[in-house]
Amino acid sequence: MKKLLLLGDIHANYPALKAILNYIQPDRFDWIINTGDFTVYSTFPNETIKWFRERKNAICILGNTDRLILRILKGKKLKKPKKEEKRVMYFWTSKNMHSENITYLKSLPQKTDLTLGHIRIGVFHGTSDDPDEELYPSAPERRFHELAKDSPYQVQIMGHSHVPFYKVVDGVHFINTGSVGRMFDGDPRASFAILKVSSGKITVEHFRIPYAVEEVVKGLKNHDLPDIYAKMFRIGKKLN
Ligand SMILES: [Fe+2]
Repeated sequence: MKKLLLLGDIHANYPALKAILNYIQPDRFDWIINTGDFTVYSTFPNETIKWFRERKNAICILGNTDRLILRILKGKKLKKPKKEEKRVMYFWTSKNMHSENITYLKSLPQKTDLTLGHIRIGVFHGTSDDPDEELYPSAPERRFHELAKDSPYQVQIMGHSHVPFYKVVDGVHFINTGSVGRMFDGDPRASFAILKVSSGKITVEHFRIPYAVEEVVKGLKNHDLPDIYAKMFRIGKKLN
């Protein structure tokens, strides 16, 4: 049997990542998947990226926030997001990233895949079609049929919508890990999933666990970052 730890949308929330790692003992996993968005909205991008950088069995891709950080670091203009408080977070992150972590982000793809026995697994930030597509479990069934059609992958792992779900459509297993570090559903606990593949059988389990939210709040306050994010982490809701 192969065991995969599925993480995503950490958003520099290292206290949340740490809580998960203390809870599940990462060494028990064959692979650790990260669907991207390592960065922005909390003040621990370096700690977060370093942890993945040092793991030989980590399979990581970039999310939209990571892509924007790399754009800023290239000296490109930031057109979006427009809201000042969001821009502040992007600029703070790009200024505070350590060079080895920038190099690591630059090395990552926007999507990837792996094969376990006869099972092919695709890893995406949004969907297999579009890294910026937010796929919710409530999306029309038609959309899942489209994504399943001609899919070379029996399992599609994704993030970006920050909504954990597991759905099997036309034989394709769609798994959204939920967000480790920035939940939107009013439950601030960290979300992750475990995927087990055993002689062609696939099982998926989601988890929500508490973490030290006040460590994140302290980080934001120490760097004079907008209060709206302290509130966002405390209540687990998108506020802007
Ligand atoms: Fe995200």
